[in-house]
Amino acid sequence: MIYEVYIRSFADGDGDGIGDIAGLRARLPHLSDLGVDALWITPWYPSPMTDGGYDVANYRGIDPRFGSLSDARQLIAEAHALGLRVLLDLVPNHVSDQHPWFQRALAAAPGSPERARFIFRDGRGPDGEEAPNDWRSNFGGPAWTRVTEADGCPGQWYLHLFLPGQPDLDWTNPEVRAEFEDVMRYWFELGIDGFRIDVAHGLAKAPGLPDIGSLVWPPVTHEPVDHPHWDRDEIHEIYRSWRALADTYEQPRVFVAEAWVHNPERLARYVRAGELHTAFNFDFLLAPWEAGSLYESIVATLHAHQAVGAPPTWVLSNHDTVREVSRYARAPSKRPVRRLGDVIDLPADFSAGRRRAAAAALLMLALPGGAYVYQGEELGLAEVEDLPDDGLQDPTWDQSGHSDRGRDGCRVPIPWAGLEPPFAFSPADASAPPWLPQPAGWRHQSVQAQTGDEHSMLELYRRALRLRRSHPALGDGQLRWLRTIEVPGVLAFARDPGFACIVNLSAPPIAPPDASELLISSGPLRPEGRIPADTTVWLSLTC
Ligand code: NOJ
Repeated sequence: MIYEVYIRSFADGDGDGIGDIAGLRARLPHLSDLGVDALWITPWYPSPMTDGGYDVANYRGIDPRFGSLSDARQLIAEAHALGLRVLLDLVPNHVSDQHPWFQRALAAAPGSPERARFIFRDGRGPDGEEAPNDWRSNFGGPAWTRVTEADGCPGQWYLHLFLPGQPDLDWTNPEVRAEFEDVMRYWFELGIDGFRIDVAHGLAKAPGLPDIGSLVWPPVTHEPVDHPHWDRDEIHEIYRSWRALADTYEQPRVFVAEAWVHNPERLARYVRAGELHTAFNFDFLLAPWEAGSLYESIVATLHAHQAVGAPPTWVLSNHDTVREVSRYARAPSKRPVRRLGDVIDLPADFSAGRRRAAAAALLMLALPGGAYVYQGEELGLAEVEDLPDDGLQDPTWDQSGHSDRGRDGCRVPIPWAGLEPPFAFSPADASAPPWLPQPAGWRHQSVQAQTGDEHSMLELYRRALRLRRSHPALGDGQLRWLRTIEVPGVLAFARDPGFACIVNLSAPPIAPPDASELLISSGPLRPEGRIPADTTVWLSLTC
């Protein structure tokens, strides 16, 4: 299991209210005790932090808010000593506008080699006052910003699929490719075990940068779509060269792609032989708590990954999506729920959300392949939906003209111990409060409050992860659907040797199969071990 450390919100060692490497080092034993195999640490590089560090100004350093290179070296060594592998976040689609390359591009003339590392174009219209095409930024507004040239006149435009402070690189430029391979070598040589690749589906842009027009993304049908900047075929050649680089190391170095593509077949293209090792399965994350949808997502995922010989992965949340307790607290909807804006107005039953999140965790951890857990998921944290407007920090809030509250609600610093904020996220003598305010109710959900409580989410994760490590049927392998338990609203599968997982999503309580013994259950069972709705059990099959 790979654990996502959203570094700003994991643990604050120096008391400035922002998580850092010192805090993470101090909490490594917790992660090893939880049963984590590897960490993915979100960007820790020097950055103006306009997008929480996904705007990198120097790919070979550490932002002083997070510590120093020597802290990073110690962290890597300590994690390895505990048997934890370390993955970093590589942000190759764009850099920060403070990156020296972009600063040089701004100072250089149109057509110069400095500008050729980015996507600068003349504007349309008689004076070039219209953007070069109709592309939109992911954060809202046009994906182009016009610069002022050295003579003080309005000049060319540059592309940014995200914020204006995140100019896109031109991946057809060999200099860009050489630079990122060098950055990867730098960190591999420092001992890191791999990279999560940010916006892995966005690096290639269609020649000529054609308008998008009425093309809808994500597509609504399963038909392939020729989108001018998402999931283009040319991308795969880049990943083949990265794989070749990773394979030059004796100790395996691995990649996981963040690729928001529209179905598992498209995703599996990123993990074909000679390309990346794994890719996040967002199809599973977006599936509602509903047996048919989850079944379809699992079957399509297994099928698509089998076809290319790669292990599937399973993920319930991350620092960009609404926490699953809050998603599952709402009635299932056919429309995918990814952002807080998709759910905030819907009636919520949070105790159902918590039961379902626990049941989903056992489902995820029983499926063949790798699993990703986002910090706080193991504590059963819900999205913080009522952060004060003036405290919101995600650029989505401003970029959307204050209509979209953005992703801060899943990024609130996590609670470790104690009865009031900062819940030991920061030391007792901290000079500043946590960078986002924590709800008072989190005193019941801290690591300390849950430790030793056998009904808590944390102890459920600990037990499940111990079983996942020790049970020979779990981890990689195959599954077999149990046709004997074909009840609407129930998912049931077996894995060899002698393991079954039954998830009751919405049926009346169901009896476990004869000749089975309970290994773990996500919630209380009914008499005779009957499994109620919103509950998953793992069973040992005795014959
Ligand atoms: C995906 C990251 O997870 C997200 O946080 C970021 O805003 C975008 N990529 C842009 O880098």
